[in-house]
Amino acid sequence: MRPMQESYMQETQSTPALTGRPVISATGLFTPTESITNEELVASFNAFADRRNAANAAAIAAGEVEPLTYSSVEFIEKASGIKARHVMSKAPILDPDVMAPRWDERGNDEISVMAEIGVAAARAALEQAGRDPQDVDAVLCAASNMQRAYPAMAIEIQQALGIDGFGFDMNVACSSATFGIQTAADYIRSGNAKSVLVVSPEITSGHLNWRDRDSHFIFGDVATAVLVEDAAIAPAAHWDILGTKLKTVFSNNIRNNFGFLNRASPETEGTADKLFVQEGRKVFKEVVPMVAQMILDEAARLGIDPRDLRRLWLHQANAGMNRLISQRVLGHEASEDESPTVLDTYGNTSSAGSIIAFHLHHDDLNAGDTGLICSFGAGYSAGTVFVRKVG
Ligand code: COA
Repeated sequence: MRPMQESYMQETQSTPALTGRPVISATGLFTPTESITNEELVASFNAFADRRNAANAAAIAAGEVEPLTYSSVEFIEKASGIKARHVMSKAPILDPDVMAPRWDERGNDEISVMAEIGVAAARAALEQAGRDPQDVDAVLCAASNMQRAYPAMAIEIQQALGIDGFGFDMNVACSSATFGIQTAADYIRSGNAKSVLVVSPEITSGHLNWRDRDSHFIFGDVATAVLVEDAAIAPAAHWDILGTKLKTVFSNNIRNNFGFLNRASPETEGTADKLFVQEGRKVFKEVVPMVAQMILDEAARLGIDPRDLRRLWLHQANAGMNRLISQRVLGHEASEDESPTVLDTYGNTSSAGSIIAFHLHHDDLNAGDTGLICSFGAGYSAGTVFVRKVG
């Protein structure tokens, strides 16, 4: 056995001196193979409406029950910009008798569904960075819903990846990923970690009410991962994190009352508030100015002229909201190149949306280009991550 002193010196010599400067080393994406088009979604909803109206025919005729009206492909695309969404379990969602994702329950000795897709995204990020999981210190599972209370999803993901460190879950709805990035960046800044995975497995199909005409088109499933590291160990090509900022303001306009103190099944009548509910118009009106101002204030604090931002990777909830926010930030209507959308094929993927946009639309930028990852959603909550390309 080597003397303690010698072994310690070899270890410290092989680790470059940490800088305390956080960067994004890599991102990863898992996309479910199945996808539902607006046409398929609307056909399923309308079949459900027909059945419900037929079952309630007498009450509807007596004026006691309002008939359900049809959903429309044209409305969905015009109001939201969404044309399709990926899902983990297509057939049961489209079955008018089920209208919820379903899969065989897994035993405690099998990996859980959320962890499985989180691991897939995390592996992609680790591979892109050329990072050995042994060198990662922490896993944050940052998502809008967790599959169970405990053990934490993050710890299951950590174990599956073979990471020797710690993990925990965090939930800030659609802003979970940016809150996770700031948390990871703070670990780097304080020297408490050199490499942190922020994993966002979003199985939003499980908390969407597929029977609600006003919102059944909104969400899709996906998983993303962001590897936040100290600049000293990052690959040559990375993104400097120039600054992070978080904001929350309480609002009931996006709410989900499901929780461990109530155990109603989503299929039971009268439990719609145990799934996603929102006042979409109010959200639109209140969140757009809040987020635009937050971006402008943070840009000013960082000494960045917002008109110089090369690209905005905004939260993907609604094309109209993104159009208005980017216009206020850039001072002109943003092109698809300046503010790319993934809403058309992914729908709203909650906290993963801005990360998907970043993952799919950053390769073409040049070293020195500055951009913004920004999320916003329930809480209300919002997070900004200003980044600059290196290498
Ligand atoms: N098919 C056809 N018509 C529909 C419909 C559907 N699926 N859903 C609603 N409509 C109708 C409504 O009944 C209403 O009809 P009326 O004017 O005759 O009453 C009309 O379309 C407008 O409804 P409204 O809910 O006001 O639509 P909207 O233009 O506000 O768009 C959202 C709805 C949800 C797309 C939009 O409000 C939004 O994106 N808000 C922000 C959402 C958001 O970011 N949420 C965060 C989630 S994390």
